[in-house]
Amino acid sequence: MSRLDVQLNRLSLKNPILVASGTFGYAREATAFAQFSRLGGIVPKTITPQPRRGNPTPRTVETSCGLLNSIGLDNDGIDAFAAKHLDYLLGLDTAVIANIAGHNADEFVEMATRLNEFSDLAALELNISCPNVSGGVDYGTDPSLTAEVVGRVRSACDLPVIAKLTPNVTNITEIAAAAAGAGADAVSLVNTFLGMAIDWRRRKPVLGNVVGGLSGPAIKPLALRAVWQVAQAVEIPIIGIGGIASLDDVMEFMVAGATAVQIGTANFYDPGLACRLVDELDALVAAEGFENVSEFVGTLTLPQQETCPT
Ligand code: SIN
Repeated sequence: MSRLDVQLNRLSLKNPILVASGTFGYAREATAFAQFSRLGGIVPKTITPQPRRGNPTPRTVETSCGLLNSIGLDNDGIDAFAAKHLDYLLGLDTAVIANIAGHNADEFVEMATRLNEFSDLAALELNISCPNVSGGVDYGTDPSLTAEVVGRVRSACDLPVIAKLTPNVTNITEIAAAAAGAGADAVSLVNTFLGMAIDWRRRKPVLGNVVGGLSGPAIKPLALRAVWQVAQAVEIPIIGIGGIASLDDVMEFMVAGATAVQIGTANFYDPGLACRLVDELDALVAAEGFENVSEFVGTLTLPQQETCPT
């Protein structure tokens, strides 16, 4: 066992640092900046059964410490993914986790069945949390729909299944518990927070889709809270996502209960960050005298509650 390898039920990763879907293209785009073999894994942009043009432009806008996007799952569809990108991705010396989205459970199952043919894929991440399309996000906002889609995908394919959860719900722990109960190997959280930007002088929304998903450092405390809450509620491993941009951020998520993390928005301004974090994490685990990074997971201790004298 190396210092950094982690196990998320059926998914083995050489280290806990992944790059998040939609922030690293199909990896080729980042060739000049990252040595892919150093990463724990790559999650390429979400694919759908059919090509999608995505939402009207503008589709991104920078906000205070964050990024709003309303891409709308623009992608060439699963056939193009299989024909143009999969061979390349599976030739990289790192785990490749395909991220899929469907309008309904049948579409998720259809895609999972197709991708099951590629046994070198490390796992499937189910995007039941995109805030920018109608139809898909409902699966991540209702525990029974989450259970249905996770359970059916789990039965239809042999690959490990990760459910990517939305924070745009009243109680994310219920959704995580539904995913766990239906057989998810892990949950990844959080996807973006629904937000908007306004150009008040023009009296217009900035995004063509009016609303979009907020990511980046602005959401880190919210994501950390969600990871910590979910860690109290489920037994399955958690992949933490949300504004992670430094080694301290990685450690905060792990101590809160994440077994692995995904670097997202930071890839846009520092595509070499994820690789550097792997080295920094390795050095930190050694310096702390630990044998494996997973010893940090869920080690948060809470302040003792003082009891008021009656
Ligand atoms: C998008 O394509 O709209 C973003 C993907 C997501 O939030 O899941």
